[in-house]
Amino acid sequence: MNKELAKVEIERISQEINKHNDLYYIENSSEISDYDFDMLLEQLNALEQQFPEFAYSYSPTKRVGGDISKKMESVVHRFPMMSLSNTYSEDEIIEWENRLKKLSEGKLDYVCELKYDGVAIGIQYENGILKQAITRGDGSKGENVTANVRTIRTIPLQLKGDFPADFEIRGEIFFPLKNFRDLNEQRADIGEAEFANPRNTASGTLKLHDSKVVAERGLDCYLYGLYGFDLPLEGHYESVLKASEWGFKTPNPEKRMIYKADSIDGIMKFIHFWDKNRSKLPFEIDGIVIKVNDYTQQQELGFTAKSPRWAIAYKFKAERVETVLESVSYQVGRTGAVTPVANLKPVQLGGTTVKRASLHNSDQIQKLNLHLNDTVQVEKGGEIIPKIVGVNLDKRNENSVIVTFIDECPECSTKLIRREGEVQHYCPNELNCPPQIKGRIEHFIGRKAMNIDGLGAETVDLLVEKGFIKSYVDLYSLTFDQIVNLDRMADKSADNLIKGLEASKNIPFERVLFSLGIRFVGETVAKKLAKSLKSIDAIQKASFDELVNVDEIGEKIAISVQQFFLEEKNNEIINRFKEVGLQFEIKEKEGVTDRFKGLSFVVSGVFTKFSRDELKEIIEMNGGKNASSISSKTNFVIAGENMGPAKLKKATDLGVVILSEDEFIVKLKD
Ligand code: IVH
Repeated sequence: MNKELAKVEIERISQEINKHNDLYYIENSSEISDYDFDMLLEQLNALEQQFPEFAYSYSPTKRVGGDISKKMESVVHRFPMMSLSNTYSEDEIIEWENRLKKLSEGKLDYVCELKYDGVAIGIQYENGILKQAITRGDGSKGENVTANVRTIRTIPLQLKGDFPADFEIRGEIFFPLKNFRDLNEQRADIGEAEFANPRNTASGTLKLHDSKVVAERGLDCYLYGLYGFDLPLEGHYESVLKASEWGFKTPNPEKRMIYKADSIDGIMKFIHFWDKNRSKLPFEIDGIVIKVNDYTQQQELGFTAKSPRWAIAYKFKAERVETVLESVSYQVGRTGAVTPVANLKPVQLGGTTVKRASLHNSDQIQKLNLHLNDTVQVEKGGEIIPKIVGVNLDKRNENSVIVTFIDECPECSTKLIRREGEVQHYCPNELNCPPQIKGRIEHFIGRKAMNIDGLGAETVDLLVEKGFIKSYVDLYSLTFDQIVNLDRMADKSADNLIKGLEASKNIPFERVLFSLGIRFVGETVAKKLAKSLKSIDAIQKASFDELVNVDEIGEKIAISVQQFFLEEKNNEIINRFKEVGLQFEIKEKEGVTDRFKGLSFVVSGVFTKFSRDELKEIIEMNGGKNASSISSKTNFVIAGENMGPAKLKKATDLGVVILSEDEFIVKLKD
């Protein structure tokens, strides 16, 4: 391809990707399959490699990260980044509005917005291209976090429409609650300490030096303010809506996320609505921001030393209650991590009864200087289980006993250890401590691991308690009689379990590796190790250098992998697994056929054996195509649970063959 053609092609593919990106991340819909999207990105990447002069800073390939910044440079803000004056009192909002009425000429309109709980960001655009993104810092200078901000899918790299030539847009970067919880779940699963709350994690993530990690974490951003000398509109409300036409994610007026009020009544209604409904949002807010709409009136009102007179933040009182700490218990996880949990006198908080709160680790207990029977303050944050944020010392009993962290495992009495530089205590009795045994088995059978049908946590408990299994490998020696005699086990369920175990022998190596539960080896790491070293034998024999040479494998993971294989018991287990017939090597081109060549599939709904993405991957590996909507060209619809009735009707009307997940699996074996 010659240079000119390459330039045109790069432009065309970029626009196409941008269109699909916006559809997916801003409008929550999609027109192409994930596979086709990845193919477009790959095509663009290849062209950019070949013609680096056209690898623009705003290319959608920058979304996946990869740029490493050694030190974040400090940059002076073109417009100082001020803060808002805050109040917790509705009366003060009324006073503020009365003051403004006296200070301004003409009628005032107000814009009510959510106060997103994240980190402020200022993003500069020149001729529609994202040039620089700076954190608030001390308000006059902040840190250049451009490479990281480019990975946030809802922040456009290149604008659409009639945008000003040079302007800055400000907003709040935050962690969506689902992504935050998923991240913590993944971390807990591989024995990493969990993050405390979404706001601090968003802030920490934004300052990471490796933008690839930022890309994976799934930050999001709402924009709330335009700064520049030639802004096209005269008011804030109109400008924010206009910015959405340029490609920014802005609050939706139809969902009452932004509202233009012409009086204090409207402002109060907005405050009350969100005070009641904020827990339904998929991200955290800590209040409401009220701004004068008209830019000229804003200018007339001006600023105090720290904040604009034309805006104020009403902060919600944190959902906090006081209750009594009755006792502290300790939970032992699959990795042996010991987590202290506060048992509280039941109390109502945010619509639910709270009986327990997380204490995270021994440092947290020390920091709070907790005593038994203390009256503690409990708050609900991004986590599902609330946390203790303070102690009411006035109510402390004189002779109350200080809480001291245990030094022996509550389950097996082994002396606990705390490794240097780590906050968590661990029970080192990996092979005999019951919750560790059960936890490892539960991890092994989980959906993302071996996905064994017919086996849940309760059955695992029973099997361990009866002494039928001591390790996950023992699952494969279970007999029908042993299973069927367990409480609440019918013939059919026992049969299902045996079949589920049999089916798990086809689970690919990378998932088997993840299922082993090696500390710090999560799904992604397992995939990387499997892809690069290809077999369990190679991983077992790999030197430390060979391990750290694998993409994304650091020293901590390499040490953990080597430690796993140093344990003779683990090698014995692997040998038994091999005898059973689990997959311990990558089968090159595993499962690649052209059995679905020329056929088009739509995968819709929720499935039990495979995830939607896995089904799509199987279709593609077998030569089929995935489409996102049903048309006359569709040959098969794979219908899971919750598939919409409209889709089902369309498929039936068009005479498309509808397959269940199981029917599809049978078809794979045709
Ligand atoms: S306007 C002059 N609008 O709250 C200040 N700020 O102290 C203009 N925030 O860290 C800020 N949601 O990042 C504005 N809808 C919103 C906001 C918002 C969150 C943050 C902002 C800053 C703090 C204000």
